[in-house]
Amino acid sequence: MPETTGLRSGLTDYGDVGFSEFLRKAFIKGAGYTDEALDRPVVGIINTSSGFNPCHGNVDQLIDAVSRGVMLNGALPIAFPTISIHESFSQPTSMFLRNLMSMDTEEMIRAQPMDAVVLIGGCDKTVPAQLMGAASAGIPAIQLVTGPMLSGGHRGAVVGACTDCRSFWGKYRAEEIDKEEIEEVNSRLVGSVGTCTVMGTASTMACVAEAMGAALPGSATAPAVTADRMRIAEQTGKRAVELASEGLTLDKVVTAEGITNAFRVVHAIGGSTNAVVHLAAIAGRLGYSLDLEAIDDIGRETPVLVDLKPSGQGYMEDFHRAGGLPAVMRQIRHLLKTDALTVTGRSLGEELDDAHDSYDEQIVRSLDNPVSTTGGIAVLRGNLAPAGALLKASAASGELIEHTGRVVVFENSKDMAERIDSDDLDVNADDIIVLKNIGPVGAPGMPEAGYIPIPLKLARAGVKDMVRISDGRMSGTAFGTIVLHVSPESAVGGPLGAVRTGDNIRLSLSERSIELLVSDEEISARLSDNVPHMVPGAERGYRKLYVDEVTQAEEGLDFRFLQGLDKRGAAPLSS
Ligand code: FES
Repeated sequence: MPETTGLRSGLTDYGDVGFSEFLRKAFIKGAGYTDEALDRPVVGIINTSSGFNPCHGNVDQLIDAVSRGVMLNGALPIAFPTISIHESFSQPTSMFLRNLMSMDTEEMIRAQPMDAVVLIGGCDKTVPAQLMGAASAGIPAIQLVTGPMLSGGHRGAVVGACTDCRSFWGKYRAEEIDKEEIEEVNSRLVGSVGTCTVMGTASTMACVAEAMGAALPGSATAPAVTADRMRIAEQTGKRAVELASEGLTLDKVVTAEGITNAFRVVHAIGGSTNAVVHLAAIAGRLGYSLDLEAIDDIGRETPVLVDLKPSGQGYMEDFHRAGGLPAVMRQIRHLLKTDALTVTGRSLGEELDDAHDSYDEQIVRSLDNPVSTTGGIAVLRGNLAPAGALLKASAASGELIEHTGRVVVFENSKDMAERIDSDDLDVNADDIIVLKNIGPVGAPGMPEAGYIPIPLKLARAGVKDMVRISDGRMSGTAFGTIVLHVSPESAVGGPLGAVRTGDNIRLSLSERSIELLVSDEEISARLSDNVPHMVPGAERGYRKLYVDEVTQAEEGLDFRFLQGLDKRGAAPLSS
Protein backbone atom coordinates (compact mmCIF):
# COMPACT_ATOMS: atom_id res chain seq x y z
CA MET A 1 0.00 0.00 0.00
CA PRO A 2 1.41 3.48 -0.85
CA GLU A 3 2.42 5.38 2.23
CA THR A 4 -0.08 8.16 1.61
CA THR A 5 -3.16 6.02 2.23
CA GLY A 6 -4.89 4.60 5.28
CA LEU A 7 -3.52 5.38 8.72
CA ARG A 8 -0.32 6.67 7.12
CA SER A 9 -2.06 9.56 5.38
CA GLY A 10 -2.38 13.06 6.76
CA LEU A 11 0.18 12.63 9.49
CA THR A 12 0.33 15.07 12.37
CA ASP A 13 3.23 17.44 11.85
CA TYR A 14 5.99 16.74 14.40
CA GLY A 15 8.78 17.46 11.90
CA ASP A 16 9.65 13.72 11.74
CA VAL A 17 7.40 11.62 9.48
CA GLY A 18 8.55 8.30 10.91
CA PHE A 19 7.89 9.44 14.47
CA SER A 20 4.46 10.81 13.49
CA GLU A 21 3.44 7.43 12.12
CA PHE A 22 4.97 5.56 15.06
CA LEU A 23 3.11 7.74 17.55
CA ARG A 24 -0.25 7.50 15.74
CA LYS A 25 -0.07 3.71 15.66
CA ALA A 26 0.98 3.55 19.28
CA PHE A 27 -2.10 5.50 20.35
CA ILE A 28 -4.63 3.62 18.24
CA LYS A 29 -3.18 0.29 19.35
CA GLY A 30 -4.35 1.33 22.77
CA ALA A 31 -7.84 0.59 21.42
CA GLY A 32 -6.74 -2.98 20.60
CA TYR A 33 -6.04 -2.81 16.88
CA THR A 34 -3.48 -5.15 15.22
CA ASP A 35 -0.92 -4.14 12.60
CA GLU A 36 -2.90 -6.17 10.07
CA ALA A 37 -6.03 -4.06 10.67
CA LEU A 38 -4.07 -0.82 10.60
CA ASP A 39 -2.50 -1.70 7.22
CA ARG A 40 -5.92 -1.65 5.53
CA PRO A 41 -7.46 1.28 3.66
CA VAL A 42 -9.54 3.36 6.06
CA VAL A 43 -13.20 4.26 5.52
CA GLY A 44 -14.30 7.03 7.87
CA ILE A 45 -17.93 6.91 9.01
CA ILE A 46 -19.47 10.13 10.26
CA ASN A 47 -21.43 9.61 13.46
CA THR A 48 -24.14 12.25 13.96
CA SER A 49 -25.87 10.41 16.79
CA SER A 50 -27.11 12.69 19.57
CA GLY A 51 -29.58 12.42 22.39
CA PHE A 52 -31.05 15.66 21.07
CA ASN A 53 -31.60 14.21 17.60
CA PRO A 54 -34.24 11.45 17.35
CA CYS A 55 -34.12 11.78 13.54
CA HIS A 56 -30.69 10.13 13.89
CA GLY A 57 -31.79 7.57 16.50
CA ASN A 58 -30.69 4.62 14.34
CA VAL A 59 -27.16 5.85 13.62
CA ASP A 60 -25.47 3.32 15.91
CA GLN A 61 -27.11 0.40 14.00
CA LEU A 62 -26.24 2.05 10.69
CA ILE A 63 -22.59 2.37 11.72
CA ASP A 64 -22.58 -1.37 12.52
CA ALA A 65 -24.05 -2.20 9.11
CA VAL A 66 -21.71 0.14 7.21
CA SER A 67 -18.75 -1.30 9.13
CA ARG A 68 -19.84 -4.82 8.13
CA GLY A 69 -19.86 -3.77 4.47
CA VAL A 70 -16.45 -2.13 4.82
CA MET A 71 -14.83 -5.13 6.54
CA LEU A 72 -16.37 -7.68 4.16
CA ASN A 73 -14.50 -5.83 1.45
CA GLY A 74 -11.14 -5.67 3.13
CA ALA A 75 -10.92 -2.17 4.61
CA LEU A 76 -10.95 -0.76 8.10
CA PRO A 77 -14.02 1.27 9.23
CA ILE A 78 -13.44 4.05 11.75
CA ALA A 79 -16.39 6.09 13.00
CA PHE A 80 -15.94 9.64 14.23
CA PRO A 81 -18.35 12.32 15.50
CA THR A 82 -19.37 15.63 14.07
CA ILE A 83 -22.00 18.18 15.07
CA SER A 84 -25.59 16.90 15.11
CA ILE A 85 -28.48 19.30 14.39
CA HIS A 86 -32.18 18.61 14.95
CA GLU A 87 -34.82 21.02 13.71
CA SER A 88 -36.65 21.39 17.01
CA PHE A 89 -33.55 21.49 19.21
CA SER A 90 -31.66 24.32 17.50
CA GLN A 91 -31.93 27.91 18.66
CA PRO A 92 -32.38 30.34 16.97
CA THR A 93 -32.82 27.99 14.01
CA SER A 94 -31.04 24.99 12.53
CA MET A 95 -30.15 26.90 9.35
CA PHE A 96 -27.96 29.21 11.42
CA LEU A 97 -25.82 26.14 12.27
CA ARG A 98 -25.75 24.38 8.86
CA ASN A 99 -22.56 26.12 7.71
CA LEU A 100 -20.88 25.40 11.05
CA MET A 101 -21.69 21.72 10.55
CA SER A 102 -20.36 21.84 6.99
CA MET A 103 -17.10 23.35 8.25
CA ASP A 104 -16.85 20.71 10.99
CA THR A 105 -17.53 17.97 8.41
CA GLU A 106 -14.98 19.33 5.91
CA GLU A 107 -12.21 19.91 8.41
CA MET A 108 -12.60 16.63 10.32
CA ILE A 109 -12.57 14.68 7.04
CA ARG A 110 -9.45 16.57 6.01
CA ALA A 111 -7.71 16.39 9.38
CA GLN A 112 -8.08 12.65 9.97
CA PRO A 113 -6.62 9.75 7.95
CA MET A 114 -9.26 8.20 5.69
CA ASP A 115 -9.41 7.08 2.07
CA ALA A 116 -13.17 7.49 1.72
CA VAL A 117 -15.98 8.66 3.96
CA VAL A 118 -19.57 7.59 4.58
CA LEU A 119 -21.78 10.54 5.49
CA ILE A 120 -24.56 9.33 7.82
CA GLY A 121 -27.26 11.89 8.43
CA GLY A 122 -30.86 12.71 7.72
CA CYS A 123 -32.46 15.64 9.53
CA ASP A 124 -33.06 18.68 7.34
CA LYS A 125 -29.73 20.54 7.52
CA THR A 126 -27.51 17.49 7.89
CA VAL A 127 -27.48 16.10 4.36
CA PRO A 128 -26.72 19.50 2.77
CA ALA A 129 -24.08 20.28 5.41
CA GLN A 130 -22.42 16.91 4.83
CA LEU A 131 -22.48 17.18 1.04
CA MET A 132 -21.12 20.74 1.22
CA GLY A 133 -18.34 19.66 3.55
CA ALA A 134 -17.44 16.52 1.61
CA ALA A 135 -17.47 18.42 -1.70
CA SER A 136 -14.91 20.84 -0.27
CA ALA A 137 -12.82 18.15 1.49
CA GLY A 138 -12.11 16.45 -1.81
CA ILE A 139 -11.93 12.76 -0.85
CA PRO A 140 -14.32 10.02 -2.08
CA ALA A 141 -17.61 10.31 -0.23
CA ILE A 142 -21.00 8.62 -0.24
CA GLN A 143 -24.20 9.75 1.49
CA LEU A 144 -26.25 7.39 3.65
CA VAL A 145 -29.47 8.89 4.99
CA THR A 146 -30.95 7.68 8.25
CA GLY A 147 -34.34 7.18 6.56
CA PRO A 148 -37.85 8.29 7.43
CA MET A 149 -39.72 7.52 10.66
CA LEU A 150 -42.80 5.33 10.64
CA SER A 151 -46.14 7.10 10.51
CA GLY A 152 -48.46 6.96 13.54
CA GLY A 153 -52.19 6.57 14.11
CA HIS A 154 -54.69 8.87 15.81
CA ARG A 155 -58.33 7.87 16.37
CA GLY A 156 -58.30 5.61 13.33
CA ALA A 157 -56.45 8.00 10.98
CA VAL A 158 -52.85 7.71 9.77
CA VAL A 159 -50.78 10.68 10.94
CA GLY A 160 -47.13 11.66 10.61
CA ALA A 161 -44.67 14.44 11.33
CA CYS A 162 -44.77 17.03 10.53
CA THR A 163 -47.50 18.12 8.14
CA ASP A 164 -50.05 16.68 10.55
CA CYS A 165 -48.32 18.46 13.47
CA ARG A 166 -49.14 21.72 11.71
CA SER A 167 -52.66 20.80 10.64
CA PHE A 168 -53.62 19.60 14.15
CA TRP A 169 -52.11 22.73 15.69
CA GLY A 170 -54.10 24.82 13.18
CA LYS A 171 -57.29 22.99 14.24
CA TYR A 172 -56.47 23.62 17.89
CA ARG A 173 -55.90 27.35 17.22
CA ALA A 174 -59.21 27.48 15.37
CA GLU A 175 -60.84 25.73 18.36
CA GLU A 176 -61.90 22.80 16.15
CA ILE A 177 -60.27 20.34 18.58
CA ASP A 178 -59.84 20.65 22.34
CA LYS A 179 -56.83 20.55 24.69
CA GLU A 180 -57.37 16.86 25.46
CA GLU A 181 -57.12 15.89 21.79
CA ILE A 182 -54.09 18.08 21.00
CA GLU A 183 -52.25 16.46 23.94
CA GLU A 184 -53.34 12.99 22.79
CA VAL A 185 -52.18 13.47 19.20
CA ASN A 186 -48.82 14.79 20.43
CA SER A 187 -47.91 11.19 21.34
CA ARG A 188 -49.14 9.79 18.02
CA LEU A 189 -47.43 11.95 15.37
CA VAL A 190 -43.94 10.44 15.41
CA GLY A 191 -44.06 6.67 15.04
CA SER A 192 -40.35 5.87 15.50
CA VAL A 193 -36.87 7.29 15.18
CA GLY A 194 -36.02 8.63 11.74
CA THR A 195 -36.69 11.72 9.68
CA CYS A 196 -40.08 13.31 9.01
CA THR A 197 -42.31 10.96 7.08
CA VAL A 198 -43.77 13.44 4.61
CA MET A 199 -42.10 15.07 1.60
CA GLY A 200 -40.50 17.69 3.81
CA THR A 201 -36.95 18.96 3.57
CA ALA A 202 -35.30 15.81 4.95
CA SER A 203 -37.12 13.53 2.50
CA THR A 204 -36.47 15.99 -0.31
CA MET A 205 -32.74 16.17 0.43
CA ALA A 206 -32.55 12.38 0.66
CA CYS A 207 -34.03 12.26 -2.85
CA VAL A 208 -31.70 15.06 -3.97
CA ALA A 209 -28.65 13.11 -2.76
CA GLU A 210 -29.81 10.06 -4.71
CA ALA A 211 -30.81 12.05 -7.82
CA MET A 212 -27.50 13.92 -8.06
CA GLY A 213 -25.65 10.61 -7.78
CA ALA A 214 -24.16 11.03 -4.28
CA ALA A 215 -26.07 8.12 -2.68
CA LEU A 216 -26.83 4.59 -3.82
CA PRO A 217 -29.79 4.21 -6.23
CA GLY A 218 -32.95 3.34 -4.32
CA SER A 219 -31.50 4.43 -0.99
CA ALA A 220 -33.53 7.58 -0.22
CA THR A 221 -36.82 6.15 0.99
CA ALA A 222 -36.35 3.02 3.14
CA PRO A 223 -37.70 3.76 6.64
CA ALA A 224 -35.15 4.14 9.43
CA VAL A 225 -36.16 1.02 11.36
CA THR A 226 -36.36 -1.46 8.46
CA ALA A 227 -34.13 -4.28 7.27
CA ASP A 228 -33.96 -2.48 3.91
CA ARG A 229 -32.28 0.50 5.59
CA MET A 230 -29.65 -1.75 7.20
CA ARG A 231 -28.93 -3.57 3.94
CA ILE A 232 -28.51 -0.22 2.19
CA ALA A 233 -26.02 0.72 4.92
CA GLU A 234 -24.02 -2.47 4.37
CA GLN A 235 -24.00 -1.87 0.60
CA THR A 236 -22.92 1.74 1.19
CA GLY A 237 -19.96 0.51 3.25
CA LYS A 238 -18.99 -1.91 0.46
CA ARG A 239 -19.19 0.82 -2.16
CA ALA A 240 -17.13 3.21 -0.02
CA VAL A 241 -14.22 0.74 -0.13
CA GLU A 242 -14.42 0.65 -3.91
CA LEU A 243 -14.62 4.44 -4.10
CA ALA A 244 -11.42 4.65 -2.06
CA SER A 245 -9.50 2.55 -4.60
CA GLU A 246 -11.09 4.36 -7.57
CA GLY A 247 -10.44 7.85 -6.15
CA LEU A 248 -13.95 8.90 -7.22
CA THR A 249 -14.46 12.20 -5.39
CA LEU A 250 -17.77 14.06 -5.15
CA ASP A 251 -16.75 16.75 -7.65
CA LYS A 252 -16.21 14.03 -10.28
CA VAL A 253 -19.60 12.44 -9.56
CA VAL A 254 -21.74 15.55 -9.16
CA THR A 255 -21.54 17.77 -12.23
CA ALA A 256 -23.99 20.26 -13.75
CA GLU A 257 -25.89 17.26 -15.18
CA GLY A 258 -26.32 15.71 -11.74
CA ILE A 259 -27.41 19.03 -10.23
CA THR A 260 -29.93 19.44 -13.07
CA ASN A 261 -31.34 15.99 -12.36
CA ALA A 262 -31.64 16.89 -8.68
CA PHE A 263 -33.71 20.00 -9.47
CA ARG A 264 -35.85 17.98 -11.87
CA VAL A 265 -36.53 15.48 -9.12
CA VAL A 266 -37.36 18.21 -6.57
CA HIS A 267 -40.16 19.34 -8.89
CA ALA A 268 -41.36 15.80 -9.68
CA ILE A 269 -41.65 14.79 -6.03
CA GLY A 270 -43.32 18.06 -4.94
CA GLY A 271 -40.23 18.68 -2.83
CA SER A 272 -39.40 21.35 -0.27
CA THR A 273 -38.49 24.91 -1.27
CA ASN A 274 -35.55 24.54 1.11
CA ALA A 275 -33.94 22.28 -1.49
CA VAL A 276 -33.33 25.33 -3.69
CA VAL A 277 -31.26 26.99 -0.96
CA HIS A 278 -29.34 23.81 -0.13
CA LEU A 279 -28.71 22.90 -3.77
CA ALA A 280 -27.45 26.43 -4.39
CA ALA A 281 -24.96 25.97 -1.55
CA ILE A 282 -23.84 22.49 -2.66
CA ALA A 283 -23.54 23.67 -6.27
CA GLY A 284 -21.57 26.69 -5.06
CA ARG A 285 -19.06 24.43 -3.29
CA LEU A 286 -18.62 22.57 -6.58
CA GLY A 287 -18.07 25.85 -8.48
CA TYR A 288 -21.54 26.32 -10.00
CA SER A 289 -23.71 29.42 -9.71
CA LEU A 290 -27.47 29.02 -9.43
CA ASP A 291 -29.63 29.72 -12.51
CA LEU A 292 -33.05 30.57 -11.04
CA GLU A 293 -34.68 30.88 -14.48
CA ALA A 294 -33.52 27.37 -15.36
CA ILE A 295 -35.12 26.09 -12.14
CA ASP A 296 -38.40 27.68 -13.15
CA ASP A 297 -38.12 26.33 -16.73
CA ILE A 298 -37.56 22.84 -15.36
CA GLY A 299 -40.61 23.28 -13.13
CA ARG A 300 -42.85 24.31 -16.03
CA GLU A 301 -42.06 21.10 -17.96
CA THR A 302 -41.91 18.62 -15.05
CA PRO A 303 -45.10 17.10 -13.64
CA VAL A 304 -45.49 16.37 -9.93
CA LEU A 305 -45.81 12.58 -9.78
CA VAL A 306 -45.46 11.75 -6.09
CA ASP A 307 -48.64 11.93 -4.03
CA LEU A 308 -47.25 12.56 -0.54
CA LYS A 309 -48.09 15.13 2.08
CA PRO A 310 -47.88 18.12 2.22
CA SER A 311 -48.87 18.43 -1.47
CA GLY A 312 -50.79 15.11 -1.55
CA GLN A 313 -51.85 12.28 0.72
CA GLY A 314 -49.27 9.55 1.34
CA TYR A 315 -46.26 9.08 3.62
CA MET A 316 -42.66 8.07 2.94
CA GLU A 317 -43.24 4.41 3.79
CA ASP A 318 -45.90 4.39 1.02
CA PHE A 319 -43.35 5.92 -1.35
CA HIS A 320 -40.80 3.25 -0.50
CA ARG A 321 -43.32 0.45 -1.07
CA ALA A 322 -44.25 2.05 -4.39
CA GLY A 323 -40.68 1.69 -5.63
CA GLY A 324 -39.05 4.82 -4.25
CA LEU A 325 -37.21 7.41 -6.29
CA PRO A 326 -36.09 5.09 -9.15
CA ALA A 327 -39.77 4.53 -10.00
CA VAL A 328 -40.22 8.32 -10.31
CA MET A 329 -37.05 8.78 -12.32
CA ARG A 330 -38.09 6.06 -14.75
CA GLN A 331 -41.31 8.01 -15.39
CA ILE A 332 -39.41 11.23 -16.20
CA ARG A 333 -36.46 9.50 -17.83
CA HIS A 334 -36.96 11.49 -21.05
CA LEU A 335 -36.40 14.70 -19.03
CA LEU A 336 -33.27 13.53 -17.19
CA LYS A 337 -29.58 13.75 -18.05
CA THR A 338 -29.12 9.99 -18.14
CA ASP A 339 -25.39 10.22 -18.93
CA ALA A 340 -24.80 11.75 -15.49
CA LEU A 341 -22.45 9.67 -13.37
CA THR A 342 -23.58 8.19 -10.05
CA VAL A 343 -21.58 7.13 -7.03
CA THR A 344 -21.86 3.51 -8.24
CA GLY A 345 -19.49 4.39 -11.09
CA ARG A 346 -22.30 3.73 -13.56
CA SER A 347 -24.45 6.29 -15.35
CA LEU A 348 -27.94 7.21 -14.15
CA GLY A 349 -29.33 5.64 -17.33
CA GLU A 350 -27.65 2.31 -16.56
CA GLU A 351 -29.05 2.39 -13.03
CA LEU A 352 -32.57 3.17 -14.25
CA ASP A 353 -32.36 0.25 -16.71
CA ASP A 354 -32.12 -2.05 -13.68
CA ALA A 355 -34.88 -0.32 -11.65
CA HIS A 356 -38.62 -1.05 -11.51
CA ASP A 357 -41.64 0.99 -12.49
CA SER A 358 -44.10 2.08 -9.80
CA TYR A 359 -45.76 -0.66 -7.77
CA ASP A 360 -48.49 1.74 -6.62
CA GLU A 361 -49.78 4.23 -9.14
CA GLN A 362 -51.70 6.16 -6.47
CA ILE A 363 -48.41 7.12 -4.84
CA VAL A 364 -46.00 7.29 -7.79
CA ARG A 365 -48.23 8.41 -10.62
CA SER A 366 -47.84 7.84 -14.33
CA LEU A 367 -47.27 10.75 -16.71
CA ASP A 368 -50.89 10.64 -17.88
CA ASN A 369 -52.22 10.87 -14.30
CA PRO A 370 -49.97 13.36 -12.48
CA VAL A 371 -50.68 15.05 -9.16
CA SER A 372 -50.04 18.26 -11.07
CA THR A 373 -49.00 18.85 -14.68
CA THR A 374 -46.26 21.31 -13.76
CA GLY A 375 -43.60 21.35 -11.07
CA GLY A 376 -43.98 22.19 -7.44
CA ILE A 377 -41.77 25.29 -7.14
CA ALA A 378 -42.14 28.53 -9.10
CA VAL A 379 -39.55 31.33 -9.22
CA LEU A 380 -41.02 34.83 -8.95
CA ARG A 381 -39.43 38.17 -9.83
CA GLY A 382 -40.59 41.75 -9.55
CA ASN A 383 -39.89 45.04 -7.81
CA LEU A 384 -40.46 43.31 -4.46
CA ALA A 385 -37.89 40.57 -5.21
CA PRO A 386 -35.30 41.72 -7.75
CA ALA A 387 -33.06 38.71 -6.95
CA GLY A 388 -35.97 36.28 -6.83
CA ALA A 389 -38.54 34.66 -4.58
CA LEU A 390 -40.16 31.23 -4.47
CA LEU A 391 -43.74 29.98 -4.33
CA LYS A 392 -44.43 26.32 -3.64
CA ALA A 393 -47.17 26.18 -6.24
CA SER A 394 -48.09 22.57 -5.49
CA ALA A 395 -49.01 23.53 -1.91
CA ALA A 396 -50.80 26.81 -2.79
CA SER A 397 -54.55 27.48 -3.08
CA GLY A 398 -55.78 27.75 -6.66
CA GLU A 399 -57.96 30.76 -5.89
CA LEU A 400 -55.03 32.76 -4.48
CA ILE A 401 -52.27 32.25 -7.05
CA GLU A 402 -53.51 35.27 -9.04
CA HIS A 403 -54.29 37.82 -6.34
CA THR A 404 -54.02 41.51 -5.55
CA GLY A 405 -54.60 42.54 -1.97
CA ARG A 406 -54.12 45.14 0.74
CA VAL A 407 -51.04 44.50 2.86
CA VAL A 408 -50.84 43.97 6.61
CA VAL A 409 -47.19 44.29 7.71
CA PHE A 410 -45.35 42.77 10.66
CA GLU A 411 -41.88 44.26 11.10
CA ASN A 412 -40.34 41.10 12.60
CA SER A 413 -41.26 37.81 14.33
CA LYS A 414 -41.67 39.50 17.72
CA ASP A 415 -44.05 42.08 16.29
CA MET A 416 -46.03 39.28 14.66
CA ALA A 417 -46.19 37.20 17.84
CA GLU A 418 -47.48 40.21 19.80
CA ARG A 419 -50.23 41.22 17.38
CA ILE A 420 -51.36 38.43 15.08
CA ASP A 421 -53.81 36.87 17.51
CA SER A 422 -55.29 40.17 18.67
CA ASP A 423 -59.00 40.70 18.07
CA ASP A 424 -58.07 44.33 17.29
CA LEU A 425 -55.85 43.40 14.32
CA ASP A 426 -57.22 45.11 11.22
CA VAL A 427 -57.09 42.21 8.77
CA ASN A 428 -59.45 40.56 6.29
CA ALA A 429 -59.33 37.21 4.54
CA ASP A 430 -58.32 38.70 1.18
CA ASP A 431 -55.51 40.81 2.65
CA ILE A 432 -51.85 39.87 2.13
CA ILE A 433 -49.64 39.40 5.17
CA VAL A 434 -45.99 40.54 4.98
CA LEU A 435 -43.39 39.55 7.55
CA LYS A 436 -40.02 41.34 7.39
CA ASN A 437 -36.60 40.65 8.90
CA ILE A 438 -36.61 36.84 8.90
CA GLY A 439 -34.01 36.50 6.10
CA PRO A 440 -30.44 35.13 6.20
CA VAL A 441 -29.13 38.08 8.25
CA GLY A 442 -32.36 39.40 9.71
CA ALA A 443 -33.36 36.76 12.23
CA PRO A 444 -30.48 35.54 11.85
CA GLY A 445 -30.53 32.18 10.06
CA MET A 446 -33.58 32.61 7.79
CA PRO A 447 -35.88 30.66 10.11
CA GLU A 448 -38.84 28.64 8.85
CA ALA A 449 -41.15 31.38 10.06
CA GLY A 450 -42.43 32.03 6.53
CA TYR A 451 -45.36 29.76 7.37
CA ILE A 452 -47.09 32.75 8.95
CA PRO A 453 -50.13 31.60 10.93
CA ILE A 454 -53.59 32.70 9.87
CA PRO A 455 -54.62 35.50 12.29
CA LEU A 456 -56.63 33.92 15.07
CA LYS A 457 -59.85 35.80 14.43
CA LEU A 458 -59.77 34.69 10.77
CA ALA A 459 -58.80 31.11 11.67
CA ARG A 460 -61.81 30.96 14.00
CA ALA A 461 -63.97 32.18 11.11
CA GLY A 462 -62.78 29.24 9.01
CA VAL A 463 -60.09 30.93 6.87
CA LYS A 464 -57.56 28.24 5.88
CA ASP A 465 -55.20 30.13 3.58
CA MET A 466 -54.07 33.66 2.74
CA VAL A 467 -51.24 35.06 0.62
CA ARG A 468 -48.29 35.42 2.94
CA ILE A 469 -44.92 36.92 1.96
CA SER A 470 -41.56 37.00 3.74
CA ASP A 471 -37.81 36.83 3.28
CA GLY A 472 -37.74 33.68 5.41
CA ARG A 473 -38.08 29.99 4.64
CA MET A 474 -40.88 27.52 5.19
CA SER A 475 -40.69 23.97 6.44
CA GLY A 476 -41.06 21.47 3.64
CA THR A 477 -43.90 19.97 5.64
CA ALA A 478 -45.96 23.18 5.49
CA PHE A 479 -48.53 24.31 2.94
CA GLY A 480 -50.39 27.41 1.76
CA THR A 481 -50.04 30.31 -0.72
CA ILE A 482 -46.76 31.42 0.73
CA VAL A 483 -44.10 33.49 -1.04
CA LEU A 484 -40.67 32.82 0.43
CA HIS A 485 -36.97 33.62 0.08
CA VAL A 486 -37.68 37.21 -1.06
CA SER A 487 -34.25 38.52 -2.04
CA PRO A 488 -32.47 40.71 -1.21
CA GLU A 489 -33.88 40.46 2.30
CA SER A 490 -35.25 43.43 4.21
CA ALA A 491 -32.42 43.46 6.79
CA VAL A 492 -29.82 44.29 4.10
CA GLY A 493 -31.93 46.95 2.38
CA GLY A 494 -34.13 44.85 0.09
CA PRO A 495 -37.42 46.35 -1.14
CA LEU A 496 -39.45 44.19 1.26
CA GLY A 497 -38.27 46.65 3.92
CA ALA A 498 -40.24 49.42 2.18
CA VAL A 499 -43.65 47.75 2.40
CA ARG A 500 -46.17 49.44 4.68
CA THR A 501 -49.57 48.41 5.96
CA GLY A 502 -52.21 49.64 3.52
CA ASP A 503 -50.04 49.20 0.38
CA ASN A 504 -51.19 46.78 -2.29
CA ILE A 505 -49.23 43.80 -3.64
CA ARG A 506 -49.99 41.81 -6.78
CA LEU A 507 -49.06 38.12 -6.97
CA SER A 508 -49.29 36.36 -10.33
CA LEU A 509 -48.14 32.78 -10.64
CA SER A 510 -48.89 32.73 -14.35
CA GLU A 511 -46.61 35.76 -14.89
CA ARG A 512 -44.15 34.59 -12.22
CA SER A 513 -44.31 38.07 -10.69
CA ILE A 514 -44.55 39.68 -7.29
CA GLU A 515 -45.05 43.45 -7.40
CA LEU A 516 -45.42 46.12 -4.74
CA LEU A 517 -47.89 48.60 -6.26
CA VAL A 518 -45.90 51.64 -5.12
CA SER A 519 -43.68 53.88 -7.32
CA ASP A 520 -39.93 53.23 -7.53
CA GLU A 521 -39.28 56.74 -6.16
CA GLU A 522 -41.45 56.11 -3.11
CA ILE A 523 -39.78 52.73 -2.48
CA SER A 524 -36.31 54.35 -2.61
CA ALA A 525 -37.38 57.16 -0.27
CA ARG A 526 -38.82 54.74 2.25
CA LEU A 527 -35.71 52.54 2.19
CA SER A 528 -33.41 55.49 2.80
CA ASP A 529 -35.53 56.42 5.82
CA ASN A 530 -35.28 52.93 7.36
CA VAL A 531 -33.18 52.44 10.48
CA PRO A 532 -30.32 49.95 9.74
CA HIS A 533 -31.10 46.47 11.07
CA MET A 534 -28.91 45.34 14.00
CA VAL A 535 -28.53 41.64 14.85
CA PRO A 536 -28.39 41.15 18.63
CA GLY A 537 -25.30 39.30 19.89
CA ALA A 538 -23.40 39.62 16.59
CA GLU A 539 -20.39 41.39 18.13
CA ARG A 540 -18.33 38.20 18.58
CA GLY A 541 -18.02 34.47 17.94
CA TYR A 542 -19.82 32.35 15.40
CA ARG A 543 -22.74 34.80 15.24
CA LYS A 544 -20.38 37.55 14.07
CA LEU A 545 -18.80 35.26 11.49
CA TYR A 546 -22.27 34.28 10.29
CA VAL A 547 -23.65 37.81 9.96
CA ASP A 548 -20.48 39.07 8.28
CA GLU A 549 -20.16 36.27 5.75
CA VAL A 550 -23.58 34.75 4.98
CA THR A 551 -24.85 35.14 1.42
CA GLN A 552 -28.45 35.65 0.29
CA ALA A 553 -30.91 32.88 -0.63
CA GLU A 554 -29.89 32.62 -4.29
CA GLU A 555 -26.34 31.77 -3.17
CA GLY A 556 -27.62 29.22 -0.67
CA LEU A 557 -26.69 31.11 2.52
CA ASP A 558 -23.20 29.68 2.31
CA PHE A 559 -20.36 31.73 3.70
CA ARG A 560 -18.53 33.63 0.99
CA PHE A 561 -15.16 32.20 1.97
CA LEU A 562 -16.44 28.61 1.72
CA GLN A 563 -17.68 28.79 -1.86
CA GLY A 564 -15.74 26.85 -4.49
CA LEU A 565 -12.89 28.69 -6.17
CA ASP A 566 -12.95 26.76 -9.46
CA LYS A 567 -15.83 28.28 -11.42
CA ARG A 568 -17.53 25.66 -13.55
CA GLY A 569 -20.53 27.63 -14.91
CA ALA A 570 -24.24 27.77 -14.09
CA ALA A 571 -26.50 25.02 -12.81
CA PRO A 572 -29.02 23.60 -13.29
CA LEU A 573 -28.74 23.39 -17.05
CA SER A 574 -31.65 24.68 -19.11
CA SER A 575 -33.23 21.89 -21.09
FE1 FES B 1 -35.63 15.94 11.62
FE2 FES B 1 -38.08 16.60 10.44
S1 FES B 1 -37.26 17.20 12.39
S2 FES B 1 -36.38 15.47 9.66
